[in-house]
Amino acid sequence: MRLSVIGCGYLGAVHAAAMASLGHEVIGIDVDPAKIAALADGHAPFFEPGLDELLRTQLDRGALRFSTKIADAVGATVHFVAVGTPQSADGHAADLKFVDAAIEALLPILAPGDLVVGKSTVPVGTAARLAARIDEHGSGASLAWNPEFLREGYAVQDTVAPDRFVYGVQRGDSGIEDGPVDLLDQVYATPLSTGTPRIVTDFATAELVKVAANAFLATKISFINAMAEIAETVGADVTELADAIGHDARIGRRFLNAGVGFGGGCLPKDIRAFAARAEELGRGDSVAFLRQVDEINLRRRQRVVDRALQAFDGSVVGRRITVLGVTFKPESDDVRDSPALDVAVQLKGLGAEVIATDPHGIEPARLRHPQLAYVASTTDALAGAELVVLVTEWREYRDLDPSAAAQLVASPSIIDGRNVLDPVAWRASGWRFWGMGRP
Ligand code: UDX
Repeated sequence: MRLSVIGCGYLGAVHAAAMASLGHEVIGIDVDPAKIAALADGHAPFFEPGLDELLRTQLDRGALRFSTKIADAVGATVHFVAVGTPQSADGHAADLKFVDAAIEALLPILAPGDLVVGKSTVPVGTAARLAARIDEHGSGASLAWNPEFLREGYAVQDTVAPDRFVYGVQRGDSGIEDGPVDLLDQVYATPLSTGTPRIVTDFATAELVKVAANAFLATKISFINAMAEIAETVGADVTELADAIGHDARIGRRFLNAGVGFGGGCLPKDIRAFAARAEELGRGDSVAFLRQVDEINLRRRQRVVDRALQAFDGSVVGRRITVLGVTFKPESDDVRDSPALDVAVQLKGLGAEVIATDPHGIEPARLRHPQLAYVASTTDALAGAELVVLVTEWREYRDLDPSAAAQLVASPSIIDGRNVLDPVAWRASGWRFWGMGRP
């Protein structure tokens, strides 16, 4: 099939390459010429494992092209909208300007039978509004909403082999519209043939599925971080608690890692946008807990900063602190709403001499926070540190040898903000060691 993907960020670039790998002919469109030039050259403008290789394979095969011109999407039957929906500058709601602009740009080129497929995360009610806009334009094209559940770091795998598909389509008096479902089934024929579940529903449910999934995940993380707060008070160990409750299959151990909390381009803004939308709908009470989920999450960053202050008896002024990790999670260079970077910036603001390091995140972090000192090598970053703060659990940091690291630093003190190090081994090597919610 001929497909277009409008918006080539984390979501769209991966989607375009993945759809080409499923055998389709794909054009990726973005308004940013630098991004398009890099993609057309086989380089993702961000770090995502496996994506560069996939881009190059599909570009070389001629199955994938990139362009800044929407006119190049003419001839595609299915147009995916994968633009960002950031938090608005003046509140918690999602800013839909890129989605609206993408639809307006597509309208003049749509042909009868074309399908526009929204993948961006949007407030419930958006798809119905956009479908009305497409209908009013009279092109004979229709709309479906097909949310994406990909995780950064596993984006390629999650796109070509997702754990489920959700199709939101127009539900009229005669039931669900068949045309969009058939087209999406053709797009996803390969993964569907392996038995991937597919849920066909209406627009509102599809929109809600996405925000409900992210709200649940965020709640799960904040739940265990709330337990960490209690554990800290009574001298209990939240990692052992998580292991113990995680054995209950109804609870499950995944997404129960307490630490510095969640960040990134999705969970924080999605729970805020969900709460804002619920308020608009007069249902603020139904998701009022999400405000607490957000607050618990932000308190964990503060907890790491407070621990650092404690380590120096109340003041970090002039202290050499090494921050291991700036991205919001490993296997990504994404620093959007990163707890790690936030901790580094706060410590710097309190007068510490912060050296930050990260395997892939230094350049994006430097663009946002040029006031921090960045060092590429972990060894160089550790040299002379009076305190080490591990806030992104890259493999390289998890595998640090405590004895070797102790030789590098000025004073062997470490805060494990992700609970990934073995406290016994680190203490045995002479380190003062603090975990999150651990004695
Ligand atoms: C998330 C959802 O997982 C994905 O389905 C959705 O499509 C987009 O948002 P992503 O933002 O890539 O994906 O990251 P994810 O792996 O979910 O992690 C989010 C944050 O939670 C990270 O900062 C991570 O460090 C943190 N986290 C995760 C925890 O603090 N504890 C955990 O147990 C799990």
